Amino acid sequence: MNAQAATAQLGVQQLQDLEPTLEEFEAAVVAGLSATQKTLPCKFFYDAAGSVLFDRICKLPEYYLTRTELRILDEQAPAIAALLGPQASLVEFGAGSASKVGLILSRLEQPFSYVPVDISRKHLLAGAAGVARAFPGLRIAPVCADYTQNFALPAAASAAPGALGGFFPGSTIGNFTHPEAAVFLARTREILGPGAVMIVGVDLQKEERVLNAAYDDAAGVTAEFNLNLLRRINRELGGNFRIGEFEHAARWNEAEGRVEMHLVSRGAQSVRIGNARFEFQAGESIHTENSYKYSIASFQALASDAGYVPAACWTDERQLFSVHALRVP
Ligand code: TRP
Repeated sequence: MNAQAATAQLGVQQLQDLEPTLEEFEAAVVAGLSATQKTLPCKFFYDAAGSVLFDRICKLPEYYLTRTELRILDEQAPAIAALLGPQASLVEFGAGSASKVGLILSRLEQPFSYVPVDISRKHLLAGAAGVARAFPGLRIAPVCADYTQNFALPAAASAAPGALGGFFPGSTIGNFTHPEAAVFLARTREILGPGAVMIVGVDLQKEERVLNAAYDDAAGVTAEFNLNLLRRINRELGGNFRIGEFEHAARWNEAEGRVEMHLVSRGAQSVRIGNARFEFQAGESIHTENSYKYSIASFQALASDAGYVPAACWTDERQLFSVHALRVP
């Protein structure tokens, strides 16, 4: 039985499939490596190996984000459920592990449906199956799509008798630039519609030392995660990156208020991907990811600019992380 047939037995409905093609992956890689400051699009981090490595990052002692967010969600799930009301539908941007979304679903009064949206079909179906096992009888309508692009909300969500909820945990919003974050928030506001409540996890500004450790851990898992992008290019696009010739670096950029992830070329080298060649100077980097850090006020201002009304904000006692509830007027 394939994954989709297996999940069908668990109340998971027809998959809406908009997974990016290999051609789109290649075009994005070639465009990124052709720029003056070389970049690679971070949405391609999460292949099967990348998803496993990211799960390991979430458990690292230095990576305070996941466990702090889980604690806030656990404490505030009753308040979130009260904002959403009965027979709500929850749309998660990024495939849920049952751990985070389950905290909310388990508190909702007669939840109507759950709609996970994720770029990786495999990750999406595995997550949907996990939630289906934990919540038998819940309607689940997965959408395989890049959630920064347009997609239609499945009937299981648009037909909900109660409110629509959006869920965007993990401070993934911090992986967008401020203008990109504003566009994403405005788009989710339109997708969800008036009366909806969007729940967003946002990492807070803090000492540089704590941030650098979170993105460059002692065990080297984050380095492996970053380098996996090169392995994926080798495997899927016929690249010849020598992985040992690149080094992971996490750099706090004070002016921009973000941690930057780079892959730094150890020496001068040339890399081939299909028919294209890319030259690297010693010390030249590929910028692979940003992780912006917000204050509560700066995030609420961004959300307001995107047309939301901030309804609540919860943090932990050390103010490491924040969870925001935003209402669509
Ligand atoms: N949303 C996560 C964050 O910004 C993603 C992330 C964690 C990440 N560690 C990373 C992305 C390392 C790239 C490299 O915290």
